[in-house]
Amino acid sequence: MKEINISTTFLAYNSINDLPSEIQSLMEKAIETRKKAYAPYSKFRVGAAILLDNGQIVLGSNQENAAYPSGLCAERVAIFQAGAIYPDAKIVKLAITAASDTNPTMSPIPPCGACRQSIAEYEFKQDIPIEIYFMGESGEVYKSDSIANLLPLSFDKKYL
Ligand code: THU
Repeated sequence: MKEINISTTFLAYNSINDLPSEIQSLMEKAIETRKKAYAPYSKFRVGAAILLDNGQIVLGSNQENAAYPSGLCAERVAIFQAGAIYPDAKIVKLAITAASDTNPTMSPIPPCGACRQSIAEYEFKQDIPIEIYFMGESGEVYKSDSIANLLPLSFDKKYL
């Protein structure tokens, strides 16, 4: 018997103002997109902005449904859109922000498990890591160099 230890590392920026300018403007696009979320049930708005290696930016916000499980998270709206429009492009950076209409969200809001799995699929496919930045409405921004930090021991095509 042995113990297996998996450690994970993030960078924490004090605020959006401390981000490098390229990612600051990507996060600003995520914030603008967050405001367009269709979230009448949860009142929890999420925005995602993806920078591709061809320079294009692809955006997504969460889209809810009266049949709750039929809705989709912002990250997957964006990533599936990127895959659909630019199937050969690589995802370089992903910026995520979340804000509730009812409670302040001052701490970084990480992507849900299903979104992590979907992001991992694209990182495996393209074979270069995706930088992921996530924040709440304001306050600290966390940066991960790869989805591997957010989803260690992940399931992928090599097991099929
Ligand atoms: N949501 C996202 O868009 N991304 C996540 O990673 C977590 C949750 C959305 C789904 C739903 O519309 C609302 O936030 C509340 O869960």
